[in-house]
Amino acid sequence: MTPPLVVGNWKMNGGTETSVELARELVRGLSKPRASAQVALAPPYTALWPVNKVIRKSRIKLAAQNCHWQESGAFTGEISPSMLAEIGCEFVIVGHSERRHIFCESDDMIARKLPAVIRHGMRPILCVGETIEERQSGQTSVVITRQLDSALKGVSEGDIEKVEIAYEPVWAIGTGLNATAEQIRETHERIRNLLVDRFGAAKGEQTRILYGGSVKPDNAGMIAHIDTVNGLLVGGASLTAESFLTIVRSFSQSDRVL
Ligand code: PGA
Repeated sequence: MTPPLVVGNWKMNGGTETSVELARELVRGLSKPRASAQVALAPPYTALWPVNKVIRKSRIKLAAQNCHWQESGAFTGEISPSMLAEIGCEFVIVGHSERRHIFCESDDMIARKLPAVIRHGMRPILCVGETIEERQSGQTSVVITRQLDSALKGVSEGDIEKVEIAYEPVWAIGTGLNATAEQIRETHERIRNLLVDRFGAAKGEQTRILYGGSVKPDNAGMIAHIDTVNGLLVGGASLTAESFLTIVRSFSQSDRVL
């Protein structure tokens, strides 16, 4: 059975030294008692390699925050999936709302990244989510459907089991605002139905669907126990060991999803 997945997205925070120190604290904190969740850390690019040296003998996995879809070439400032795989990344966050909204990543660009990440043996964590205007105008389902349909068009039935999905309402990211349990459940069910329609029940039921957006130690327990939630994508609260460890432990020993 698949365990829940908790990912710490450090975004553009921390230099090499602070990243290594935080990774060390997490390795120590997660060595006893064993948490049931699988844990991945997504440090800034410059800290990927040093953080990997700290975590590689632990159960913590390495994740990147983004990548390009091409193998190599004249793409100044970009990083390719093979470069990430080479230094030990097992996950890559794809289509984060900050990439979509601040860096104008289109559905089409995101669609190209998924097969590229999978081809290099890594697991994409595909982020989808609506803005506050889209939610208020009743467009949530339409937006999520469009983002998923587009992003998954290059993913075969055989590969969907290598994909993680994170539902992150844009209005809840970094704002302290939380989606309600009902909003999370409703959107997760929509995503699940889309996966089953597209890939069949056997495959579509196996994909982990995470939640992200202002997950903190004080709300993680509630969110982790929503029956549709198979993991968490954590930004701000993953920047200190104490709060991230509390969040990871909100999945109890008995939690096994899917
Ligand atoms: P947050 O970020 O936890 O700081 O809201 C979540 C994310 O961006 O993945």
